[in-house]
Amino acid sequence: MELSDREFELLRSYIHDICGLAISENKAYLIRQRLEPLAADAGCKTFEEFYEKISKSAPPKFQEKIINAITTNETSFFRDGHPFVAFKEHVLPKLAEIIRERKARMHTRKGPKVRLWSAGSSSGQEAYSLAILIHEYALAHKHLLITEEDFGILATDISSEVLSRAMAGEYNKAEVKRGLTSDYMTKYFKKGQKYWCIISLIRTMVEFRQVNLIRPFTMLGGFDVIFCRNVLIYFDNETKTRIIEQFFDMLSDNGVLVLGATENVYGITDRFDSENYGQTLLYRKCLDA
Ligand SMILES: C[S@@+](CC[C@H](N)C(=O)[O-])C[C@H]1O[C@@H](n2cnc3c(N)ncnc32)[C@H](O)[C@@H]1O
Repeated sequence: MELSDREFELLRSYIHDICGLAISENKAYLIRQRLEPLAADAGCKTFEEFYEKISKSAPPKFQEKIINAITTNETSFFRDGHPFVAFKEHVLPKLAEIIRERKARMHTRKGPKVRLWSAGSSSGQEAYSLAILIHEYALAHKHLLITEEDFGILATDISSEVLSRAMAGEYNKAEVKRGLTSDYMTKYFKKGQKYWCIISLIRTMVEFRQVNLIRPFTMLGGFDVIFCRNVLIYFDNETKTRIIEQFFDMLSDNGVLVLGATENVYGITDRFDSENYGQTLLYRKCLDA
C-alpha cells in the first residue's frame, strides 16, 4: 500500500497523540510496514481511508492494536549488563539500609518498604532481572532480616501485547539465551515444550500494569528506584521533560533514576545530580533544586 507524504503526516501526528512516539521524517517505512496489515484487516484500501476510520470512530481496541504494532519492544534480561551490576553492588545495599530504617520507624506497617519501577518494561525481562538480584540479595542477607516482601516491584508498559507476555513470564530459547547464564536459566526457569517459564517465586515479585507515560502518572505513588531504559529515546523533548519532571516528584529523597545507555537528562532538567558507578549513570534528586 502506498503511503503519501500527507498520509504519513496524518498518521505520524495521530501516533504522537496516542502514545507520544516522535517518528522522524525519514521513518515513513515504519508506519507503512507496521500499519499496513492493520489497514488491510480493517478493509481499507488506502492509508487515508484508514486514518479517517481510526481518527473518527475507532474503538479503543483498535487504538490498542496500533500501539502494539507501532511500539518497539526490543529488550533482554540484564540488558547491557552494567546497570544491573550497579544495582546489585551499589543500589541494593543502600535499599537494604533504607528498609532497615523504615522498618524501625514504621514497624507496624505491613507491605513493601521500598518500591521499584520498571517504566516501559516491555515483555518483563528488565523487571525480572531486578527481581532475581533482589531474591539473591535477600537469600545472602537473611541475617539482616531483609526479605523479598520488603521490595515492591511495579512494571508498566503501554502495550497490552508485551504486558500479557510479561505476566505469563514465558520466553523462547533465544530470549532466555540473551542475557541469562545457563546457571540462571536452570535456577529461575522451568523448561516447557515451547517456552522457558520463569518460576513463580520470581514472577510473583513483580506487579504488571498498563500505563501510558504521556498521560499523568504520579498517582502510581512514590518510588525508591526507577528504571526507565530505552524508552525516552522515542519521545520529543517536550514529552521527555513532562515524564522526567514526574519522575522527580515521585522519587524519594535517596531515590535513584536509571536511564538507557544513550539517554540522559541534560538539556531537559537540572534537578538531578548524577553519579557514575562503573559505566552506569545513577541520577539522584538534587535536593536544593
Ligand atoms: C525498547 S523497549 C525498552 C524495554 C526495557 N526498558 C529495556 O530497556 O530493555 C521500549 C518500551 O517502551 C514502551 N513504550 C513506548 N511508548 C510508551 C508510552 N507512551 N508509555 C509507556 N510505555 C511506552 C514500548 O511499548 C516498549 O515496550
